[in-house]
Amino acid sequence: QLPAGFAGRVVRWQRTHGRNELPWQNTRDPYRVWLSEIMLQQTQVAAVLGYYERFLARFPDVAALAAAPLDDVLALWSGLGYYSRARNLHRCAQEVMDRHGGAFPRTALELQSLPGIGPSTAAAISSFCFGERAAILDGNVKRVLTRVLGFGADLSVAGNERALWDHARALLPARELNENMPRYTQGLMDLGATLCLPRNPACLLCPVQPQCFASHEGQPQAYPVKTRK
Ligand code: ADE
Repeated sequence: QLPAGFAGRVVRWQRTHGRNELPWQNTRDPYRVWLSEIMLQQTQVAAVLGYYERFLARFPDVAALAAAPLDDVLALWSGLGYYSRARNLHRCAQEVMDRHGGAFPRTALELQSLPGIGPSTAAAISSFCFGERAAILDGNVKRVLTRVLGFGADLSVAGNERALWDHARALLPARELNENMPRYTQGLMDLGATLCLPRNPACLLCPVQPQCFASHEGQPQAYPVKTRK
């Protein structure tokens, strides 16, 4: 039993209450979106902002990044942590140049085959830049969806995580509303980052609270269930 009208509520809320002025928004340039998504994988927005601007100033496009020495890339990444991200970033830029003629592929499926791009990052890029109807499922979005659905199965178990991916796809905007994909994707991220917080979710402000199983149960903080890291 899926919550009716879920996607529409997320989209309408994002328009007025979501984040719409971040430097990697209001662009459909996959290079900029990709760079932001890699930086944001394990790092908060506030910490990413300065790095993002410096990185773009030094490497304005994928060709410039691919041609740079790895040490220059690592130097600009210094302080952000998780340096395998920077190594993969450099390798990914080189693959886009050498195997895709300098243009990022337009589907999540193809994007996923590039270094450092997992299924959720691939879907974020394809939905933001190309409006693809692809589901994301990062840590924040897992929290939002498990709570709405009352999905109490252990996400440490691969089969349960796959089941949640199926739910994430089922909740996407209807096909005829594909143009909503960028805002829907951003809206899920924004809900997870600003209202649907791990310990003290702001259910009173939440646009999907009327349909949220966990909120009705009075136990939002019990989700997601994850016994192993
Ligand atoms: N975290 C991951 N992707 C993001 C985005 N597009 N905006 C804000 N935070 C994010």
